[in-house]
Amino acid sequence: MTDAKLSSPHFSKEDFGPDFKWGVSVAAYQIEGAHDADGKGLSIWDAFTNKKGKIKDSHNGNTATDFYNRYKEDIDLIKKLNIPNFRFSISWSRILPSGTGETNPAGIDFYNKVIDYCLSQEIEPWITLYHWDLPHELEKKGGWTNREVITWFEEFVAVCAKNFGDKVNNWMVMNEPVVFTGAGYFLGLHAPGRRGMKNFLPAIHYTTLAIATGARKLREIIPAANIGTTFSCSYLEPHRNLERDRKAVKRVDALLNRLYIEPLLGLGYPVEELPVLKSIKKISLPEDEKNMVFDFDFIGVQNYTREIIKNSWLIPYVKASLEKAENRNVPLTDMKWEVYPEAMYQMIKQYNQYPQIKKLMITENGAAFPDEIINEEINDDKRKKYIQDNLAQALRAKKEGLKIDGYFVWTLTDNFEWAEGYHPRFGLIHIDFESQKRTIKKSGKWYADFLK
Ligand code: FCB
Repeated sequence: MTDAKLSSPHFSKEDFGPDFKWGVSVAAYQIEGAHDADGKGLSIWDAFTNKKGKIKDSHNGNTATDFYNRYKEDIDLIKKLNIPNFRFSISWSRILPSGTGETNPAGIDFYNKVIDYCLSQEIEPWITLYHWDLPHELEKKGGWTNREVITWFEEFVAVCAKNFGDKVNNWMVMNEPVVFTGAGYFLGLHAPGRRGMKNFLPAIHYTTLAIATGARKLREIIPAANIGTTFSCSYLEPHRNLERDRKAVKRVDALLNRLYIEPLLGLGYPVEELPVLKSIKKISLPEDEKNMVFDFDFIGVQNYTREIIKNSWLIPYVKASLEKAENRNVPLTDMKWEVYPEAMYQMIKQYNQYPQIKKLMITENGAAFPDEIINEEINDDKRKKYIQDNLAQALRAKKEGLKIDGYFVWTLTDNFEWAEGYHPRFGLIHIDFESQKRTIKKSGKWYADFLK
């Protein structure tokens, strides 16, 4: 697919070294559809998308991109794009419809087929165990606010490890814990739609414990597995060059960038910057502190943008607010996120400060732009440039000797973008949601050419 019009940047895949992992990431609820097919139980996202006013234009993931039925076509496309690594997640309620207890053979079978087809195409599978779709039955019992969720999750991990562990070597325990607990249990914007500190604090603590417990379970069942977990992060800068805005940045950094990784690395919660976290003590057991720690083989970092922070006494707990990108006269994506590639370099640098991290991978990065099909082609130059500019920043970090071992684009095809429904298009491949027709965008062609 060499094409001058694809105009390559001033670096090549080889500059990242022979062991660098190139990939693409997806998540079950955003693509699979088949929400109640073949014995699958409902998840909190199936329930949440049914509630009025929660999702833009009342969209839901009932059909999504129909990956459940079209996985071969999509894996063929991954192959066509020369992408050697495919990160996808497992829908917990597809294989354990009630969350615990009886398994669903058809669900297990589906993931076996996906894995086998990847392997037959020489594509390496990377499994995310939890990408936000808790079984609805478990939410009824308190979900992430119930300490029992740690054992429920451990059971789910064991089922996955036993069924897929002989074929899959790469595992990510969870995706972006601060997003699903923050948006789902504090702000009420994501499933299950709960709000407030009384939900957020237990969700934080039990999620942290579940990540470490799940990782230990994986290690026990698949001793040689490559085990990681992924974190969202934002590069933060003060609004004004004032001490109070710089302090506000520290508090938001503790919340968005340090809250989960630090206890997992054995550093404890960032209580100094966020004193409210001290209340976690009330629900803690003496053994929690050591049980929260796990020695991961790699850490996945997911960055999309930068945020500008200002001191704001009116906002509870963090006492800070974001200066919206829309009001800053900067280039925006369709998510209204600032296009700021240097954030990639800065976050790689920030996470490199933890000596406990052995390998650091970018497990998501990408952009939504309004794509137009003209004569069967999608000239998404902005997305192509976004990816190239972010890669240039990752390479800058690499050349400075910082740890950076992989890069996965978010995402393969346009899909269901949570509360935003199907509006933001993040794919390297365009989806016509009426016909489910797939069309490779220019960014996809460029990535294929780059990876050739
Ligand atoms: C990340 C999520 C992923 C996707 C991208 C745009 O926060 O992990 O599922 O929605 O953002």
